[in-house]
Amino acid sequence: MKKRILTGDRPTGKLHLGHYVGSLKNRVALQHEYETYVLIADVQALTDNFERPEILKQNIREVALDYLAVGLDPNECAFVIQSQIPEIADLTIYYLNLVTVARLNRNPTVKAEMTQKGMGDEVPAGFLCYPVSQAADITAFDAHLVPVGDDQKPMIEQTREIVSKFNRLYGETLVTPEGLYTEQGRLPGTDGSAKMSKSLGNTIAISDDEETVNKKVMAMFTDPNRLTGREPGNVENNPVFAYHDAFNPNRARVEELKDLYRRGGENEKGKPLLGDVQVKRELANALNEFLEPMRARRAEFARDESYVWDVLRDGTQRGKARAAQTLEAVKYAMQVDYF
Ligand code: TRP
Repeated sequence: MKKRILTGDRPTGKLHLGHYVGSLKNRVALQHEYETYVLIADVQALTDNFERPEILKQNIREVALDYLAVGLDPNECAFVIQSQIPEIADLTIYYLNLVTVARLNRNPTVKAEMTQKGMGDEVPAGFLCYPVSQAADITAFDAHLVPVGDDQKPMIEQTREIVSKFNRLYGETLVTPEGLYTEQGRLPGTDGSAKMSKSLGNTIAISDDEETVNKKVMAMFTDPNRLTGREPGNVENNPVFAYHDAFNPNRARVEELKDLYRRGGENEKGKPLLGDVQVKRELANALNEFLEPMRARRAEFARDESYVWDVLRDGTQRGKARAAQTLEAVKYAMQVDYF
């Protein structure tokens, strides 16, 4: 029997290169080897967007199109909409008893988000508890493996704690999941900050067109201390080189660029040997080559409005069947099965 993967995304906008490096790439690679479910976590997205639920529907479609664009195959991999699986909400309620408020307050990712969103003392209970709902997402699908960006490590940790407590209290029922992170690490934002994130406005979307990519790359941060191309520059902590490493298939050229950049210097005409603009131009070309087939697939799938919703309906049905089995096992273990 195949082992299972569950992972997911909040439908708050189009997916970007950070999602690709952090998780999508692993999902595409593993979808044939594992029984794979990808969850479009609209209920989780509501925990910090409940005042504007109307953003969800369009974004669910965009995320599904991004999945198709990067090469997730809906026959191999079920695209599941979280809100349509009440079994997940059921599981969340049972798990909430296994977690303390103090523990939730210590979750570093939730803490960082609370600060970033300026929630102060006004943290919605649903938001504070979303890691528990995420544990329900993962366990509902009996997932062995969860490919995610490393910002999600604390969620996997909390899920493992909940599973361990559940199994201890009620008997071995739930699978203990493992996180799968990329060896490459996190992709920085175009502004050089540690994380690419829509709320920071430093993303390149998978669906960005060529002109947009060119513009964003030209505006990227590089080594702030290198004022002209004549000076030796830093390739570490330099997002332009982080992207070259992640997306430029011509490794030899990337090494050559790094070497020239580190050395600085000028040619016989007094021009810099390698200026930032050249490094960026080559990056924009590499990115556009990488994204072009995805854009083409996206456009193809977007043409038929009903196709995406058919894929989502079918995937959600498959997901619901799996989640229902888990809920049944959980209720049995807890002796909450009366009839
Ligand atoms: N928290 C994830 C994010 O912000 C999305 C998500 C929801 C998820 N449920 C999940 C990821 C289950 C992995 C597994 O991107």
